[in-house]
Amino acid sequence: MLNRVIMGVYPTHYALDSQVTDRMAWFYRARARGGASLIVVEGPCLDYPHDYSGETQLRLDDDSFLPGLQRLTETIHAGGARAFLHLNYPARTGPREARVSVHEHSSSVELGRLVRKFGEAAGRAREAGFDGVEVQAGWGELISRLLSPAYNHRPDEYGGPLYNRGRFLLQVIAAVQDKAGSDFPIQVKMSAREFLPGGFEIEEAQAVAAMLEKAAVASILVSAGSADTRRWSVPPQAVPPAVLAPIAAQIREAVGIPIVTVGKIKNPDMAEAILAAGQADFIALTRPFITDPDWAKKARKGRPQDIRGCIYCLQECAGSGVPGLGRACVANPYTGQEGLIRIRKARKKKRVVVVGGGPAGMQAAITAAERGHSVRLIEQAPRLGGVFSYPRIAGYKGDVVELPRYLEHRVRQLGIDVTLGVRATAAHVLAQEPDAVVVATGSRRFIPPYPGIEGENVIEGRDFWAGRDGFGGRVAIIGAGSVAFEAADWFADRGTEVTILARGADYLKDMTELPRKELLDRLGTKRVRILSKVQVVSIEPALLVYRDEEGGEVSLAIDTIVVAAGGRRDPALAEELKGRVQEVYLAGDCDQPGTGGMAIRSGLGVGLRI
Ligand SMILES: Cc1cc2nc3c(=O)[nH]c(=O)nc-3n(C[C@H](O)[C@H](O)[C@H](O)COP(=O)(O)OP(=O)(O)OC[C@H]3O[C@@H](n4cnc5c(N)ncnc54)[C@H](O)[C@@H]3O)c2cc1C
Ligand SMILES: Cc1cc2nc3c(=O)[nH]c(=O)nc-3n(C[C@H](O)[C@H](O)[C@H](O)COP(=O)(O)O)c2cc1C
Repeated sequence: MLNRVIMGVYPTHYALDSQVTDRMAWFYRARARGGASLIVVEGPCLDYPHDYSGETQLRLDDDSFLPGLQRLTETIHAGGARAFLHLNYPARTGPREARVSVHEHSSSVELGRLVRKFGEAAGRAREAGFDGVEVQAGWGELISRLLSPAYNHRPDEYGGPLYNRGRFLLQVIAAVQDKAGSDFPIQVKMSAREFLPGGFEIEEAQAVAAMLEKAAVASILVSAGSADTRRWSVPPQAVPPAVLAPIAAQIREAVGIPIVTVGKIKNPDMAEAILAAGQADFIALTRPFITDPDWAKKARKGRPQDIRGCIYCLQECAGSGVPGLGRACVANPYTGQEGLIRIRKARKKKRVVVVGGGPAGMQAAITAAERGHSVRLIEQAPRLGGVFSYPRIAGYKGDVVELPRYLEHRVRQLGIDVTLGVRATAAHVLAQEPDAVVVATGSRRFIPPYPGIEGENVIEGRDFWAGRDGFGGRVAIIGAGSVAFEAADWFADRGTEVTILARGADYLKDMTELPRKELLDRLGTKRVRILSKVQVVSIEPALLVYRDEEGGEVSLAIDTIVVAAGGRRDPALAEELKGRVQEVYLAGDCDQPGTGGMAIRSGLGVGLRI
């Protein structure tokens, strides 16, 4: 059944030798079956080798790539969705060390050649069974740079007034219609606001929208941002939800063709409200479909609580993803492995005790219960969620609370026996006479042995995020990861002067590019000083002494010190139980300190083995 929900384009990077793989087909099949009415498939290379980003990108510059794409469109159609192909030409081409700006350095003849490449690709897309194409005219890619007065300084017929800056886009539309047929739908993805000084802004975007309507474009997907203002293109945690809907509404006022809005539309209620307010005609979701392929199906059934929500962290779906796995999802261990992981009933029903109700423990309990085991989950805190439920984290980056919310919902749905407020010991576990135990108790805090570290002015990072109070004045934070830097942000927001002391030259290595830049930009506007390559020497009641890069000792007058030096593996309880219970497993941070994604995958792996 068709609806107004579109899956936005997402480069999975699951191609091999630029061909469609089973993994890619499974990924899209799950989203088609999950109720998206239209799926925009990732953009192929159109003009090999100039716009080629590597063997994990699809190609459509030659007929030999058609069979794989035909299989993909058949798969999507069989799942019940329509398929559009995203067509894009990058702003810069050439080898990494010698990139050339296409909009600046291409002659008008060369631009004419690129127009033909779009047309040929659209013709092949139709042959491959696609139902339409999406032309990328935003995001700081080639077409948007030509549209943008901030980037386009050409003296020829492609530069100057908007009519000229829009020429290439309109030629592309005409070429697509020529090669694929005038009945072949074209959606244009446009950054209606670049958020750049002197850039492409709403009035010009409205004018371009009118030109596109006149050129018989089927719909416009309203995005925003450019290469240097990417926070508007893929809104991270720090940006409010549905932030682009009012911009879509402004474009909708200018034209009569359908307008699609996108960008951090978090749940079905939010989507309905946008449609009801007349801000857009269709809703595109990208990250929500990465996290839950069945988003639309669950929304249609009136079961929004069953949706596994995105936490907008951009940790595993972006960049190169997870080592050995590629692009994945922190909140969903199945993403990118749709065809590989099967929940099969266990041959023998076992009595399973899971100790620790963080992400790892909850996921292990869920998978074990799904496989038919009888599961008891014991958590010492008054609530489930582990680190993700720390009160100060919820107040600081509220999007993440969706991760424990969903897992707890699933735990309750499966009827898992949950005991809260009990610190399980070996004796306690053995008294349950389990066949299998999963120890998922989280990592052991690491406190570096600096003289004075036990002082009353020192708070351990996790205690801070768990809500400990009783600090004040000037703050120093020892640590180089996100736990330390986000604490600095929290303090700075309250007007506190903060100094971060990182041992190495590199910091925030546990974050991907966009959220890292977002956080560092934010800290740059606040009273936060970052000292790297420093070594803490000692801590005194109102003083911290450190050694700087040159080896000189520096004293810092400080009132509160937060130590966020990470966690260590903690197999103690599991060691005690080994040999006394048939099966003993470790899951999550207590086995390998890491991220929420690693913890959930580890819980899933253990749940499948019991
Ligand atoms: C401040 C902070 C922010 C973070 N932010 C992110 C983020 O944004 N994204 C991300 O991916 N990762 C983040 N991480 C890392 C992530 O939180 C962890 O990797 C993840 O929570 C590990 O899950 P886990 O279930 O193994 O352990 P935990 O989340 O630590 O859960 C272990 C649970 O076991 C319970 N427990 C321990 N001993 C016992 C016992 N004997 N009996 C009963 N219960 C017991 C604990 O109370 C706890 O609830 C963050 C970490 C910190 C410290
Ligand atoms: C990791 C990642 C990469 C993306 N790459 C592209 C891209 O190359 N081109 C594009 O037009 N959109 C790209 N998108 C953007 C999405 O299609 C969408 O516009 C954006 O994520 C906002 O929607 P969402 O909040 O529902 O995810 C990407 C999104 C993500 C998360």
